[in-house]
Amino acid sequence: MSTQTNHEQAAGPDAAPSTGIQDIAFATGHYSFDLKNLAEKHEIDVNKFYVGIGQETMSIPAEDEDIVTMGAAAAQRIIERNGTDGIRTLLFATESGIDQSKSAGVYVHGLLNLPREIRTIETKMACYGGIGALQMALGIVARNPEEKVLVITSDVARYDVDTSGEPTQGAAAVAFLVQASPDILAIEPAQGVYTTDVQDFWRPNFRNTALVDGKFSVGAYMDALVGAWHDYRAHGGVDFREIDWFCYHQPFTKMAVKAHMRLTKEAGVPLEKPEAAAALEPTFGYNKQLGNSYTASIFLGFLALLDSQKDLEGQRVGFFSYGSGAVAEFFTGVILPGYRQHLRAEEHQAILDAREPIGYDRYRVLHPGTLVQPTDNYRTERQTQAPFRFEGVDEGSRLYR
Ligand code: COA
Repeated sequence: MSTQTNHEQAAGPDAAPSTGIQDIAFATGHYSFDLKNLAEKHEIDVNKFYVGIGQETMSIPAEDEDIVTMGAAAAQRIIERNGTDGIRTLLFATESGIDQSKSAGVYVHGLLNLPREIRTIETKMACYGGIGALQMALGIVARNPEEKVLVITSDVARYDVDTSGEPTQGAAAVAFLVQASPDILAIEPAQGVYTTDVQDFWRPNFRNTALVDGKFSVGAYMDALVGAWHDYRAHGGVDFREIDWFCYHQPFTKMAVKAHMRLTKEAGVPLEKPEAAAALEPTFGYNKQLGNSYTASIFLGFLALLDSQKDLEGQRVGFFSYGSGAVAEFFTGVILPGYRQHLRAEEHQAILDAREPIGYDRYRVLHPGTLVQPTDNYRTERQTQAPFRFEGVDEGSRLYR
């Protein structure tokens, strides 16, 4: 890990007002599933999951929950503290969309009674979609500094049962507010971007579950990291040693450890596995408990860092986002003096503790299977205790309360 210097003055006294994250919160599904249940079912050592891939439990949504209900619950926390003044854009990032046409964000807009003078769209590029939305939000605020953008990242990660991807499922939403002169994180201008057409993970329209070439996807992630890093450096990015913390997309937390070993080697300061794991551990707390949450995963790493460290003021965080298929990006932000007043560590712990643990049989009832079934008319039973629920489908229209 670096020397953790204060980068507060890096922009200089005459620099334009910073743009970045003002407030950030998460929500998740009603149930939690300990991976020991899966290990018992498959008669394998649970440490393959706890240690080998670095995951402990995964969130499972109730039948009356989905990306909309989780996204609305996370966004409600942001609105409660910040109000709606200035919000003229709502970006909803997901790769587990519930409609081929209508943005999931419009349902959230309705559930939260947001003002009508808002543009609302959905972004998609696998797990990268949330960082894509963040960059769009930064562009909107740079053009109109009086405006704010509400970004919601929400996903249910589902693979077929009895596949190697099964222990890396999960569900969560993170919502955050992007504005000028923010209190939590000032995002710096340098960006390293990367796109290559690879078939490492995909979900055809007729499937509830993703298809993945697991080992190939790990390699594709590494290639994208190296590509995005060099592009970042070529476009004004700071030296590796000037970055205090690293938040990676975490499909499983060991993926981030592998990535950090690769990046430190690329940057000429190689770390062995224990040192790389120790450097990233403060970013793992929520992802280990929630499982993969695709677009939300990188932001949960950032929230875990904020909630677990005593004083981060002035420290620089490097973010690496990877979306299979594949698009990636590396950029940095500096944590601001006002960040502590927005922390929600107790609220977040309460959300984790409120989940109802389930065993293997219940998990299988809740796993909807591979193929999308015709769903013109049906009702769900009340299960969730969350503020919003998915009630079912009426003549093909989804109903939320
Ligand atoms: N104790 C400790 N570690 C153990 C273990 C045990 N009892 N048994 C196995 N392990 C380790 C393995 O050595 C391996 O470590 P390594 O990666 O450092 O070599 C790790 O656990 C995983 O084991 P492996 O046999 O490689 O797992 P797998 O074939 O079931 O596949 C994934 C793992 C991640 C590829 C699979 O879960 C997957 O496809 N996930 C979805 C795709 C994904 O998330 N891709 C990431 C890029 S987006």
